[in-house]
Amino acid sequence: MTDGSDMYQPELERAPARGIWGSRVGFILAATGSAIGLGNIWKFPYITGVYGGGAFVLVYLISVVIVGLPLMIAELMIGRHSKKNPVGAFKTLHHPRSPWQLTGWLGVLSGFVILSFYSVVAGWAMAYIFKSAAGFSGTAEQIQGEYGALVADPALSILWHTIFMVLCIGIVAGGVQRGIERWSKILMPTLFAILLGLMAYGLFWTDGGARAMNFLFKPDFSKLSAEAALSALGHAFFTLSLGMGAMLTYGSYMRRDESITRDAITVSVLDTVIALIAGIAIYALVFNFDTDPAAGPGLIFQTLPVLFAETGPWISVPFFILLTFAALTSGISLLEVVVSYFIDERRWGRIKSTLILGTAIYLFGLLSAVAALTVPFRGKQQGFFDIFDFISTNYMLPIGGFLTCLFAAWVMKKASMISEFGSGGIMFKGLVFVLRFVTPVAVLLVLLHGLELLPFMEY
Ligand code: PFF
Repeated sequence: MTDGSDMYQPELERAPARGIWGSRVGFILAATGSAIGLGNIWKFPYITGVYGGGAFVLVYLISVVIVGLPLMIAELMIGRHSKKNPVGAFKTLHHPRSPWQLTGWLGVLSGFVILSFYSVVAGWAMAYIFKSAAGFSGTAEQIQGEYGALVADPALSILWHTIFMVLCIGIVAGGVQRGIERWSKILMPTLFAILLGLMAYGLFWTDGGARAMNFLFKPDFSKLSAEAALSALGHAFFTLSLGMGAMLTYGSYMRRDESITRDAITVSVLDTVIALIAGIAIYALVFNFDTDPAAGPGLIFQTLPVLFAETGPWISVPFFILLTFAALTSGISLLEVVVSYFIDERRWGRIKSTLILGTAIYLFGLLSAVAALTVPFRGKQQGFFDIFDFISTNYMLPIGGFLTCLFAAWVMKKASMISEFGSGGIMFKGLVFVLRFVTPVAVLLVLLHGLELLPFMEY
């Protein structure tokens, strides 16, 4: 039997565009960088508010454990075993005309759609670096109003969207590993420290701490609508970068001597902890200033600046720089999924693929950058930003994750899985059982519930 390292070396020489992580921590940092992003600091707190708090958080935590973690292990296995982009991976592990490659296609499409609106929010984070440097002043309402003004100004939103996409394109075109690995080591711990500081401030120096803990951790199931449960599951996918092949792609650059399970647990735990800390920090302030927890996407750009007006730019400028960095390490992983398809399958060069696809995503993102453009969707006029966010998070990622899970559990060869997992013992059997019966059933139930198609429920 050949061992894996014999297999990939010649392949690497033939395809020099395919990278490999420089070190063991390199993968962890890049994967954590992909997972931790706007999803944790911007989206988790605001959707928790929209969906009413504790019960939503509980469904989200359960989703991370029974759906997110097994699926992350499955994606990493598929990626590392095939050493391919999401489309190529399913072809390699099944056969060249396999219908499973549609799962990969869906992933590439999700990367395209998600990055197009993700870049708009990342742009707001960048704009807030400069707003913070100038200092926030005035009444709480005036400070909060600045966000509305930014979003409503298409020229400004487009400007920042452009800058963020240029950064993503520049990094992905240049090859990600070295720069990102090195910077992640400094910036991710700093982000963690700043968030911890903000959480401590919120808990111990404001009057909102206790209410924030109640809001987040005391479930009130009467508030758990079908849409909330669907969104909690969708968010587990979004925040862990699952269901669209990002972890699969990063896994394809992974060394064979690393434990996939241990790395998947590390990434999931770090991601969840950061989201909870951000949630506590932000809700302590929301309740302290008596603002509306269900404020929506503007929450972080409206409540934190009110506090920052008191602390000054020393905290706010680093905060928004780090938020931008967190968004950047996620943005490049989204772009990398799309680009890796064209490198592997179409034999395009890295620079050509990045430039062409990056520009296409940028142009598509203009729809989301212009808030005034609205169309009827689910019974009301909505902007493209909300529509793309809703469809990709709640349908594309769960469907992609569902199919990936079925593939790993029922189609991928057991021997291939065992070679990636490290052993075929009880842990492996447990994983296969969960991937076969628990994860897909959970995803399917929630998807059908969201579509109001469950036969035993009343809608
Ligand atoms: N996980 C990222 C976040 O929480 O911000 C967003 C994301 C990145 C989603 C990469 C999907 C993905 F493939």
